[in-house]
Amino acid sequence: MRTSANWLKERFGIELPIIQAPMAGVQDSALAIAVCNAGGLGSMPCAMLSAAVMRSELSAIAAATTSPFNVNFFCHTPPASDPRSEAAWRELLQPYYDEFGIDANAASGGAARRPFSHEAADVLSQFRPAVVSFHFGLPAPDLLQRVRAWGATVVSSATTVAEARWLEAHGADAIVAQGLEAGGHRGNFLSDDMSEQAGTMALVPQIADAVGVPVIAAGGIADAAGVKAALALGAAAVQIGTAYLLCPEATTGPVHRALLASDAARHTALTNVFSGRPARGIVNRLMREIGPMHPALPAFPLAAAAVAPLRAGAEALGRGDFSPMWAGQNVSGCAAIPAAQLTRQLAAGL
Ligand SMILES: Cc1cc2nc3c(=O)[nH]c(=O)nc-3n(C[C@H](O)[C@H](O)[C@H](O)COP(=O)(O)O)c2cc1C
Repeated sequence: MRTSANWLKERFGIELPIIQAPMAGVQDSALAIAVCNAGGLGSMPCAMLSAAVMRSELSAIAAATTSPFNVNFFCHTPPASDPRSEAAWRELLQPYYDEFGIDANAASGGAARRPFSHEAADVLSQFRPAVVSFHFGLPAPDLLQRVRAWGATVVSSATTVAEARWLEAHGADAIVAQGLEAGGHRGNFLSDDMSEQAGTMALVPQIADAVGVPVIAAGGIADAAGVKAALALGAAAVQIGTAYLLCPEATTGPVHRALLASDAARHTALTNVFSGRPARGIVNRLMREIGPMHPALPAFPLAAAAVAPLRAGAEALGRGDFSPMWAGQNVSGCAAIPAAQLTRQLAAGL
């Protein structure tokens, strides 16, 4: 069943069928506020935030807009620490530690990626956001129930038809069909086999035919023609990430911005070397020399800690050789213009 492209308007009074993708690590409340106030659905990613920071960011959104907003979480199962695979990973990185004069045994850090928890639900319940979205499946039923308690619309990403069916059966009210073009982490949670995953144009109509809930198209959408095409394929709305990365309201770092605006952004690949899970980013040195997909890494998100000091060392020199430079395949919509202007451009002529 296909839901009309007026879904966001009918359900939430949101004027435009545009959702600004939650993007952990490259945005805070400012981007979400700008998109909400421009008539789209702004999103606040919380996967890398402490409860205190989450509270202050959500307070900032609540103070700056009366529009509904989306709050996003990861919901992976945290892996047990695996000293053997972590030691093997450090050994593989040893030549780089030597290059930067870093002590491998002291190499740890980076912002933790935490799954949705009761602590996060405690904070969230003070704000009762209209939309709560998840990546990597759905949280445990008791946690999901807490979100449902205030009537939030629950959204999660599917990378295959099977995942979309699973999400609908387990309580998702809408599904992001995340095509292979998308920047950032793949949302897959039933299978690690990337050969099952399809591009947005193939995925959206298949998921729209397979489920009864609204489908949100994501991946490679970067202009008004792409938005219209996704809606024509059966999407009720679109979710756009990469195109917002150069907006002044995003916190995208200077090295990442420069790469997005350069020829290098024509080369993206799926890689697991930054976190242990596949994600799409601009090809850089670590991806080229160790990846892009390495067969034996510490499980997500543990692989990130050993890379963190290399990332810091290279960034201090103005280089993105060891940083995740997340980007989708279509950077043609990236522009250093206010997010409100970009949102209106994406919806032009609808
Ligand atoms: C820099 C970056 C960070 C991302 N972080 C998240 C995240 O924290 N949570 C999430 O659900 N999706 C995340 N995504 C994926 C987006 O939700 C979405 O699937 C993707 O941006 C759509 O494709 P596009 O980038 O081609 O527009 C991220 C994407 C990017 C580019």
